[in-house]
Amino acid sequence: MSTHQGRKKVTVPEIIAMKERQEKIAALTAYDYLTGEMLDEAGMDIILVGDSAGMVIAGHETTLPITMDEMIFITRNVRRGVKNSLLVADMPFLSYQTSVSDGIRNAGRFLKEAQAEAVKVEGGKAVVELVDKLVGYGIPVMGHLGLTPQSINKFGAYKLQGADPQTAGILKNDAKLLEQAGAFSIVLEKVPATLAKEISQSLKIPTIGIGAGPDCDGQVLVSHDMLGIFDKFQPKFVRRYAEIGTTMRNAFAKYVTDVKKNEFPSLDESF
Ligand code: KIV
Repeated sequence: MSTHQGRKKVTVPEIIAMKERQEKIAALTAYDYLTGEMLDEAGMDIILVGDSAGMVIAGHETTLPITMDEMIFITRNVRRGVKNSLLVADMPFLSYQTSVSDGIRNAGRFLKEAQAEAVKVEGGKAVVELVDKLVGYGIPVMGHLGLTPQSINKFGAYKLQGADPQTAGILKNDAKLLEQAGAFSIVLEKVPATLAKEISQSLKIPTIGIGAGPDCDGQVLVSHDMLGIFDKFQPKFVRRYAEIGTTMRNAFAKYVTDVKKNEFPSLDESF
């Protein structure tokens, strides 16, 4: 398996330059040091410490309960494994919706306490003032439009967004507003491929798709989904690259059997 050791550090300007070069951007999520290191060694352009951590590692039903302090702890752990990928931290629910100054303080904490290099916020028009201020203070921002999981109670279900002309129009406008405010990229989640293509072509900054078709400038998935570890539900847009969950379950069951039958440890594994 080839790795990308020795590659150059990925920076925010480099992510924008990749779009200019029409080079696709690869991104995945990480929530711990070892996964951060593995993704970095695999040549990942962007590693996102997603608030999906609330679901896939903390076991919450939605992304809403995870806190700023929990996200800081997780980001610090991932940071220790990451050398060259761009490390982006997800702003959790209520860390920026309460006021612009709360948003600045909390975004700043990710850079100051966890050495993240950028933050991600969900929403369009509602976060434009915050994005503008953050970028002005030197905090790069990734936007997130479409199916924004922090708004699950408004949507009612994890359903396709921008499927009718009116909501598609709002999404297109929000994408432009985020670009004008200085966002360096935008995640487009669960929107029709044709709409994602149109938005991608209308922007100078890259779009990173998740369930948004092949014409986004990059792709992101939740690592636990693509590894087959998290299987409470499996969206159509997730390609399973491994079945690690099954491997882990089998290994744990075999260990229990071996201990019960006194087949572990053997004399070779003893002193
Ligand atoms: O929290 C997360 O993992 C995300 C990605 C799905 C983009 O926001």
